[in-house]
Amino acid sequence: MSGQRWTISGGGWGMGRLRWLTAGESHGPALIAILEGVPAGVPLSQDDIDRELARRQRGYGRGGRMKIERDRAEVLAGVRWGRTTGAPITVKIGNRDWENWRRLLEPFGKPPPDYRPVTVPRPGHADLAGHLKYGHRDLRDVIERASARETAARVALGAMAKRFLRELGVGIASHVVSIHTAAAEVDVLSLGIAPEEINARADRSPVRCLDPAAEAQMVARIDAARAEGDTVGGVFEVVAFGVPPGLGSYIQWDRRLDGRLAQALLSIPGVKGVEIGLGFQAAEMYGSEVHDEIFYAEGRGTYRETDRAGGLEGGVTNGEPLRVRAAMKPIPTLAKPLRSVDLVTKEEVLAHRERSDVCAVPAAAIVGEAMVALVLADAVLERFGGDSLEAVKRNLAADRG
Ligand SMILES: Cc1cc2nc3c(=O)[nH]c(=O)nc-3n(C[C@H](O)[C@H](O)[C@H](O)COP(=O)(O)O)c2cc1C
Repeated sequence: MSGQRWTISGGGWGMGRLRWLTAGESHGPALIAILEGVPAGVPLSQDDIDRELARRQRGYGRGGRMKIERDRAEVLAGVRWGRTTGAPITVKIGNRDWENWRRLLEPFGKPPPDYRPVTVPRPGHADLAGHLKYGHRDLRDVIERASARETAARVALGAMAKRFLRELGVGIASHVVSIHTAAAEVDVLSLGIAPEEINARADRSPVRCLDPAAEAQMVARIDAARAEGDTVGGVFEVVAFGVPPGLGSYIQWDRRLDGRLAQALLSIPGVKGVEIGLGFQAAEMYGSEVHDEIFYAEGRGTYRETDRAGGLEGGVTNGEPLRVRAAMKPIPTLAKPLRSVDLVTKEEVLAHRERSDVCAVPAAAIVGEAMVALVLADAVLERFGGDSLEAVKRNLAADRG
């Protein structure tokens, strides 16, 4: 296949043709995202990116920072007059908070005389691991990059991937399934609505939940956690409609699309579990209850009446909607901190506190959409690759016959 290259699995390298990288610190001047491999001629507007960035910033349970920032993408390269050129697309997202942090994060110069390094790691965050790995004595050097602020850059990348996929008839949506033990009773496929409508409904909910009764319980759980100085996690679902069959492959472990999706979703900070289709539930059921029977109709070809597999069999898309869920642990920064150790004095103290969210599951769902979009766009290009949108569309149409 032209353009095929040996790649490192994950780490921002697509298996097919897309490559993406992010840079930037949480309180630095800006985040930068680079996406290489998007075909020429894909329509892209300022709003396509900014709308997604705004969706990531919402959600009941977010901390004070979301009120300071209104993320806006500045496209520096790869787009001209509303169309991609085929060159690497580079996006900058400025940090409004930079001026307040400049003194502490200057690339050159010296720490101010009154500066006090962060020396108490938070259990559950990257602080101690970053200290052990990189030898940082000021945990600020860990926090700044490990912070989920970085996911804004991923959402910008995902917005571009989504726009490309939309041109091919692929739509991606997400919603929150549970927060703490408050769970929604929603089978998103049985709603029979388009992905845009799923997102519109979810976006109207403060917790991005499609079940009003569960929504109220979720809000109550977040309020209760906040009142206790605590935090909560939850589960979100990402669904992709119109996904062409044949993406991914079973011929080698790292080509399986289920594995690639899981890696992408597990790379979201705080995500600790991924399910495809029925996921863990399938382990408690009989095969006859789990597997989607195969039917045939003239003009339609083979089809399924159920989608318990989540649109993937053998690591390959089977033409049914793709359905993945991700479980997010509770936010590690607690207003009522857990016990930790001061790395300088070695004394037992309470963990460092930083302005923080109580729950970020609704936001993580938007990041999940972005990661699924990037993996799918990459897999589409691997199978239907072309240098222009027209070429990709031709290849896709030829496959559909
Ligand atoms: C959208 C989003 C927002 C987050 N906000 C916070 C936060 O405000 N405070 C915090 O301590 N962790 C937050 N997290 C989770 C941490 O970034 C994450 O737990 C940490 O990087 C350690 O990684 P790990 O949990 O995957 O081990 C957030 C995660 C996401 C996806």
